[in-house]
Amino acid sequence: MSVLKLVGISKSFGGTRVFENVDLDVEKGDRIAILGASGSGKSTLLRCINLLETPDAGSIEIGGTKVGSAGRSGLRISERDLQALRLRAGMVFQQFNLFPHMTVAGNVAEGLSTVRRMSRPDARTRAIMELARVGLADKADAYPARLSGGQKQRVAIARALAMDPEILLFDEPTSALDPALVGEVLGVIEQLAEEGRTMLLVTHEIGFAYHVANRILFLAEGGIYESGTPDEVLKHPRRPLTQHFLKEHKRFQF
Ligand SMILES: Nc1ncnc2c1ncn2[C@@H]1O[C@H](COP(=O)(O)OP(=O)(O)O)[C@@H](O)[C@H]1O
Ligand SMILES: [Mg+2]
Repeated sequence: MSVLKLVGISKSFGGTRVFENVDLDVEKGDRIAILGASGSGKSTLLRCINLLETPDAGSIEIGGTKVGSAGRSGLRISERDLQALRLRAGMVFQQFNLFPHMTVAGNVAEGLSTVRRMSRPDARTRAIMELARVGLADKADAYPARLSGGQKQRVAIARALAMDPEILLFDEPTSALDPALVGEVLGVIEQLAEEGRTMLLVTHEIGFAYHVANRILFLAEGGIYESGTPDEVLKHPRRPLTQHFLKEHKRFQF
């Protein structure tokens, strides 16, 4: 069952191409790790899926439903489509993006009451359930400033989960963390993978990608340069830029 389908997605900024004609089919339960050098377009690809950026060309289908319609200057999307899409694709950012003036539970409950129109008490109950899933139910009434980076990122994951997304999009979720805090966040992501959740994960944690992903995409030269199983791409890369990238990231272990 296809959860997400990209056909011919292209994106440029001011005449500079980031990628062109990207096709991607994500099936239910897929855990796809996206690797690539800095600037290769990993974030832009996730942002195009979530429509934080508008693709210049191509189409996006989520759960079998086409998003928007082809317009003269790229995909045209109504406000309604946009909101529907964001409910179905939950994004977790490198920098957490929590609201500092709201408690942890408030951050998780916000989308439930404003977008899902849940009553405040119901939203809070659901928020606490999601916080428990990431091991943070006891921090419900704390403010983000009082949390470690790892805890903040787990709150951001709980916030995404609260919306019942069909697909989770992680953009380098551990890159802003002290090394000592990386493990707790990877642990949560691993648990979500084991639950069979569908996810796209941009990461530099190559050993983790090897263990958790069923498919690897390596971005370079304006597109998906190499893709395959973790064994194919990470142990036996066929193309020179993939080989070079993996040599530069020698730290990883399988
Ligand atoms: N909003 C933007 N405006 C102009 N250029 C951008 C913008 N976002 C990204 N870029 C450029 O697009 C390219 C890909 O960026 P990005 O997707 O952030 O790469 P990655 O996440 O792989 O490091 C880079 O050259 C970057 O400078
Ligand atoms: Mg990026």
